[in-house]
Amino acid sequence: MQVLIELGERSYPILIGSGLLAQPDSYAGLPRAAQALIVSNTTVAPLYVAKLRQALQAHYGQVRVVELPDGEAHKDWQTLNLIFDALLAQACDRKTVLYALGGGVVGDMAGYAAASYMRGVPFVQVPTTLLAQVDSSVGGKTAINHPLGKNMIGAFYQPQRVICDLDTLKTLPERELSAGLAEIIKYGPIADMALLDWLEVNMDALRARDPSALAHAVRRSCEIKASVVGQDEREAGLRAILNFGHTFGHAIEAGMGYGAWLHGEAVGCGMVMAATLSERLGLIDHALVQRLKALIARAGLPVAGPQLDGQDNAGRYLELMRVDKKAEAGEIRFVVIEAPGRAGVRGAPDALVREVIDACCLRQ
Ligand code: NAD
Ligand code: GLY
Repeated sequence: MQVLIELGERSYPILIGSGLLAQPDSYAGLPRAAQALIVSNTTVAPLYVAKLRQALQAHYGQVRVVELPDGEAHKDWQTLNLIFDALLAQACDRKTVLYALGGGVVGDMAGYAAASYMRGVPFVQVPTTLLAQVDSSVGGKTAINHPLGKNMIGAFYQPQRVICDLDTLKTLPERELSAGLAEIIKYGPIADMALLDWLEVNMDALRARDPSALAHAVRRSCEIKASVVGQDEREAGLRAILNFGHTFGHAIEAGMGYGAWLHGEAVGCGMVMAATLSERLGLIDHALVQRLKALIARAGLPVAGPQLDGQDNAGRYLELMRVDKKAEAGEIRFVVIEAPGRAGVRGAPDALVREVIDACCLRQ
């Protein structure tokens, strides 16, 4: 099956299915070049590089691989430079096509490298985590982290295609599968309450990796993301709703040290906080917060925030949240649920945010 991202001349398809990695059709019509570089990591490369490389050999004179160290803690300048080192060492020209084979960390870094190398070379996303298939590989956000803030350095740069081979999810660790479920759940309260209903019925099937449940969840998530990105590619407004739970979540990730909490875990917990804030702003009732919290817990995700500071926990969250791309003139902006299935972006008084953090975090 296929979902189209409609962005004029930068439109591209998201292919979703089983066995796509080895199917020649998956690569039909992609730019041809003398060289292709597969960007992967030390965990994913041994599992899937051979299959991808074999498929690409029909289209490129040389197919090389660069293996990055694995993990969010390596989503930085130093690791990004390994991609540039490989491109330059192999004298790759500006037609070289990059293939990002891995989860969101590889996808974000390979995408940023593609955006910058020789001011832009084509790239293809081959996401192998649930999170990357339902979110990060789609829509052209690329970035690396800075010690002071998550995804703070990057570019909007669209791939030529996204190839989601559902078979790759068979080797995904349980905890990573749960992290991906967080980004699927996100689409319910912000855009599609029918998806939330469906997730409540099908959560066990998803966690058991039922192929048809996974295919439905990936397709519906990509459709929603494609619609939002198609209306607001560069986040002038609407696209910010895709960051539901992320303002609190990014504070957790940065505050705990990148990699301690998975991105999806932090987003899951962040959604409980953002929903609680929405309730306290009088936008939604408590029943929706409870519904969301129960679903996030059933996905195997934490629902209580960690303590980031023994002295002033809420103060530390606030400090970290001020370093956020949505912040305007130092004011933190939160994605809130305006009504079931509809989200917006608002500021909130610090005192109220402190109450939410106190209510949602584990006691020491
Ligand atoms: P990840 O890339 O770290 O992958 C998770 C782990 O699973 C890694 O250890 C990886 O090596 C391993 N792995 C990947 N595929 C596997 C497979 N098929 N089998 C076995 N192991 C496999 O994490 P993620 O959750 O995919 O992505 C999180 C990142 O995505 C964060 O950096 C986040 O900021 C970013 N993100 C970006 C966007 C965007 O729009 N660009 C959206 C959401 C998240
Ligand atoms: N994951 C948020 C976005 O793509 O905008």
